[in-house]
Amino acid sequence: MAKGLTLGVFVGTAGMALGQAAPDQITYLSCSVCHGGDPSGSIPEIRGLPYDRLLSSLRGFDGASDSSTIMHRFVAGLTPAEIDSLARYVSGLEGGTR
Ligand code: HEC
Repeated sequence: MAKGLTLGVFVGTAGMALGQAAPDQITYLSCSVCHGGDPSGSIPEIRGLPYDRLLSSLRGFDGASDSSTIMHRFVAGLTPAEIDSLARYVSGLEGGTR
């Protein structure tokens, strides 16, 4: 009985790590290198920004018109679905100062 319960909890946790939450978290790791939230830095804080704002910024970076920015390079490799999902994830993060 107790053994079965332990196994159930373990499988549940592993499923979460491999399944739903992982992709956005992993993508965001590459973002947080720059957008790490250092208040003295010049790179804007993105955690907790509204979903709409993130989505339109990221789509803007994805467009050829904005190819002069650093961000263009990072967004170019993401599909529209990944951008949408990432915007949702980042908007839900704690730590935003705005
Ligand atoms: C090499 C450093 C670097 C990395 C990595 C990076 N960014 Fe940025 N980001 C910037 C800079 C610098 C700006 C300011 C605008 C510009 O110059 O392009 C910016 C701007 C932004 C903005 C606009 C913020 C606003 O106020 O509207 C968003 C959204 C954003 N980045 C999201 C991301 C996401 C999501 C990732 C990961 C896929 C990421 N960034 C990775 C440097 C980076």
